[in-house]
Amino acid sequence: MSLPKINPTLTSSWNKLAQLAKDLKTLQNYFADGTSRAQQFSITWESFFVDYSKNQIDKDIQAALLGLVKESGLEDARKAYFSGDTINQTEGRAVLHTALRAKEDADIRVNGENVVPKVYAVRAKIKAFTNAIIAGEQKSSTGQAFTDVVNIGIGGSDLGPAMITEALTYYKNHLNVHFMSNVDGDHVMEVLKKVNPASTLFVVVSKTFTTQETLSNAITAKKWLVEALGENAVADHFVAVSTNLAAIYAFGIQSKNVFPMNDWVGGRFSLWSAVGLPIALAVGPDNFEALLDGANQMDGHFASAPLEDNIPVMLALLTVWYNNFLGAQSEAVIPYTQYLNRLPAYLQQGIMESNGKSVDRAGKAVSYNTGNIIWGEPGTNSQHAFFQLIHQGTKLIPAHFIGFSTALHGNKDHHDKLMANFFAQTEALMSGKTEEQVREELIQKGMDKTEMEHLVPFKIFTGNKPTTTLLIDKLTPNTLGALVAMYEHKIFVEGVVWNIYSYDQWGVELGKQLASVILDEMDNSTSIKHDSSTTQLIARYKS
Ligand code: F6P
Repeated sequence: MSLPKINPTLTSSWNKLAQLAKDLKTLQNYFADGTSRAQQFSITWESFFVDYSKNQIDKDIQAALLGLVKESGLEDARKAYFSGDTINQTEGRAVLHTALRAKEDADIRVNGENVVPKVYAVRAKIKAFTNAIIAGEQKSSTGQAFTDVVNIGIGGSDLGPAMITEALTYYKNHLNVHFMSNVDGDHVMEVLKKVNPASTLFVVVSKTFTTQETLSNAITAKKWLVEALGENAVADHFVAVSTNLAAIYAFGIQSKNVFPMNDWVGGRFSLWSAVGLPIALAVGPDNFEALLDGANQMDGHFASAPLEDNIPVMLALLTVWYNNFLGAQSEAVIPYTQYLNRLPAYLQQGIMESNGKSVDRAGKAVSYNTGNIIWGEPGTNSQHAFFQLIHQGTKLIPAHFIGFSTALHGNKDHHDKLMANFFAQTEALMSGKTEEQVREELIQKGMDKTEMEHLVPFKIFTGNKPTTTLLIDKLTPNTLGALVAMYEHKIFVEGVVWNIYSYDQWGVELGKQLASVILDEMDNSTSIKHDSSTTQLIARYKS
């Protein structure tokens, strides 16, 4: 079954939402209306508590949003997604990252074949390999135990493993895991500077094994290794993760060191596959499995919870509401844990590469906004950086606040301070501070009347700034898996409503094509016609 092609603007719910958007109350008014709002607009699931009551919605808006998702055909689309139908139609592929974390007895078919046994065969290979490396049983070409792992990959072959490995630092073993992604030679050299060839394992990750950045970096790393240890060392120091087996063998990687991927998993959704090898190396295969289990639990929730109690569905609908009816251009993601430092960058690829589309599933230009801009940084750092604009700027920026009840190292004093800020910010963003409150505060401080009147306008906070709070018991491999899967399903729901194909990424091709033309020009001193700006820039670089 393919995804329905429903123009959302022609649904009755869209019309209703457009009307409702004209008559919005402020968040302060919504909260003043009654005490049940917080309970009405929150969802408890496993160790997740999602409070979306500080959003500009009421029961009528919620009902119309749920009407929109139903009219968009979400329920059938969700079945097609989970059952391996070719929903990535522009690339002719299924979208089955969920199969990578399915239970062993699941039966998920692609072209009539149950893919789950193959998934478990790769999982077993990951387990055996990572256990042997961690225990120092599988040794380097010099007979030493490996101390360092360098992941060479970019985009989905970098961001997921890099984000998760940092997020699970608390659960890490002795292996130092580094990430080399940018084709910037300085990045490459800075990583190589930190490691010793005799005890370094390189994991080359590329779904296609054609990506310029990854291949260039892998070739440079190989040369560096060969200079230090000789050609024969490559077989012991390089492993690869890819769908392109021929290219891997041509690179000199032995078949026992190859971890296959499948074309039914998109790069940005691939951390659950062998792309997660550096994660399993860093935190051990059991923690990697726990990450997968957490994601599988979230898959179950998304697949079966009623739409109004369904976390990815409700979060996606809030995004649609702000994006399409209230004019928001971006959303902030603010994790209140330093461990999730890379989550916003990871979500930028997941969300913006998936839903940054302007042609609908019928091949027509859309007449409405799609793909929101994602950005963020951990709190409390971000409070001292860009929060000014969220509190007192002119832009509407709905924000996700992600916090954990338990600190991993158990430092209660610090954690209370961190979480006090977490709660305070969403309250301040919602409630603001009125002119009367500002005046009262300044009077209390004994400020002179003229000076006070001058200052009052600058110290007012209008409030009414929407936030969604995700309060999770503890950052574990399991809850992290569920959190990431939650965002994956949110992306899916948004794509269904926006009537776009979320799983291709044609938009990254043009720049790649032009870069290879320009590179040829640099190598061959040939010159091709560009616009005058590009011509001038290339000439200046070459001179
Ligand atoms: O940037 C485009 C893209 O295809 C991403 O979707 C992907 O994650 C990345 O390049 C890397 O691709 P590969 O794993 O094939 O090297």
